[in-house]
Amino acid sequence: MQGISRLIIATAAIVGILVVVLVYAANENDRMEAFDAGFRGRAIEDGAALYSEACATCHGANGEGLVGPALNAADLLVPEPGESLPPRVIARGWKGDLHSFLATSISSGRVGTVMPAWGQKAGGPYSEQQIDNIATFIMNWASEPGKKWGGATERVAIGGVEPISAPVAEAMPSPPPSDVRSAELGRYLFQGPAGCAECHAFDGATGVIGPDLTGVVENKGRDYVYNSIVDPTAAGHDKTVMPESLSFSLSEIEIQSIIDYLENPEAAKPAEEAAPEKPSGPEAGQQIAQAQGCLGCHTVDGSSLVGPTWLGLFGSTRKLTDGSQAIADRDYLYRAIVDPNVEVVDGFNPGIMPQDYGDRLSEDEIQAIIDYIETLK
Ligand code: HEC
Ligand code: HEC
Ligand code: HEC
Repeated sequence: MQGISRLIIATAAIVGILVVVLVYAANENDRMEAFDAGFRGRAIEDGAALYSEACATCHGANGEGLVGPALNAADLLVPEPGESLPPRVIARGWKGDLHSFLATSISSGRVGTVMPAWGQKAGGPYSEQQIDNIATFIMNWASEPGKKWGGATERVAIGGVEPISAPVAEAMPSPPPSDVRSAELGRYLFQGPAGCAECHAFDGATGVIGPDLTGVVENKGRDYVYNSIVDPTAAGHDKTVMPESLSFSLSEIEIQSIIDYLENPEAAKPAEEAAPEKPSGPEAGQQIAQAQGCLGCHTVDGSSLVGPTWLGLFGSTRKLTDGSQAIADRDYLYRAIVDPNVEVVDGFNPGIMPQDYGDRLSEDEIQAIIDYIETLK
């Protein structure tokens, strides 16, 4: 009997302890959940404040999209059936989860677009905690998708606003298209928004933080250069200052374009820079004469202004102030333009025609003006 009652008491005690532990644990879970919710709530609040301060101007007060794409959009926040990530995240080849995709997008910005880098690591104003909070706030838009975006299953912005596409091109003075691989695009990125030129010397750039990249593709191969860009640490650049985020902020096409440019900088020169259009012919000559003010002193209709008329000038015999004569052939006209005081036309004053056209005009421009004068018969 005693044995049994002891056993009962012992069992009761054990059960009692268990109950206490379980009850405590349950409470603790509740407390944790409450704490969690409060924490998430504060994160969302903080994120919302930062968002309306820094992001609303481009992405809309409710993430509906303006200059930047919609962020309250189903295709950014909600995976399609059978997928673990939303379509836009998959499209960018992201390996992590949605939160890290948003946080990295916000922190690193998008090179070559007006989307700035916000993370302190990338030179922006916000701590990692703040970036996390903004990402959490954005993800909150997906919490009740049925209610918020009317149950739409298509890839539209929540609230029915279509994401605005390719807003960036218009915002910049005609950069090369970013979806077509070209050395020109590579040059634009390298020398401009990708910031490579800040650290590297190459093709006129004078950065000194990283190695001179002249001949780097020829000497070390495309693969080496590619790896140096997408994963500098793995490529053997120890404790490198080479930014780690390039593989994210640059698309594959942009990276290949930069390597094309590093391989052959000449191929990237815009056509007009490689072969500047040389002025030639009477029409160009007429324009230059007008632009340079020649026609303020010389007429083409036979009347005299400050200087002799150009009508009938070509091939005529000129009487000069020193009593000599000259035939107005191309050589004479050339001398009259670059050195007007040496042979002065009879009846006109020396020193009036500007003396510096020889410096101001290119050889081609002078020849074009002479072409023009030649036509004025
Ligand atoms: C000056 C305008 C501008 C501001 C300010 C701006 N963005 Fe953006 N953002 C853009 C543009 C443009 C893009 C699209 C870039 C591209 O084509 O990849 C973009 C892209 C994004 C993306 C990636 C979307 C996707 O579909 O891949 C996220 C996330 C984002 N911005 C969040 C933010 C947040 C958060 C802020 C504020 C901290 C912010 N942006 C401030 C212009 C801006
Ligand atoms: C903040 C400075 C910085 C920026 C910006 C930067 N780099 Fe670098 N890069 C470095 C440094 C430093 C190294 C050398 C790392 C090491 O090996 O220690 C390096 C190494 C490299 C190498 C390997 C060169 C070699 O001979 O081993 C390549 C290729 C390269 N960078 C390309 C680029 C490109 C392309 C960009 C732009 C998209 C870029 N870098 C932007 C600093 C930078
Ligand atoms: C401020 C007035 C003035 C301007 C501007 C001027 N010229 Fe003259 N130019 C004269 C005068 C005055 C003479 C005559 C005196 C002399 O020969 O130096 C003259 C003479 C000439 C002659 C020789 C004409 C002849 O009858 O033999 C040529 C050719 C000529 N100018 C070409 C030009 C061209 C080309 C320009 C523009 C690039 C130009 N001039 C601008 C005042 C001007």
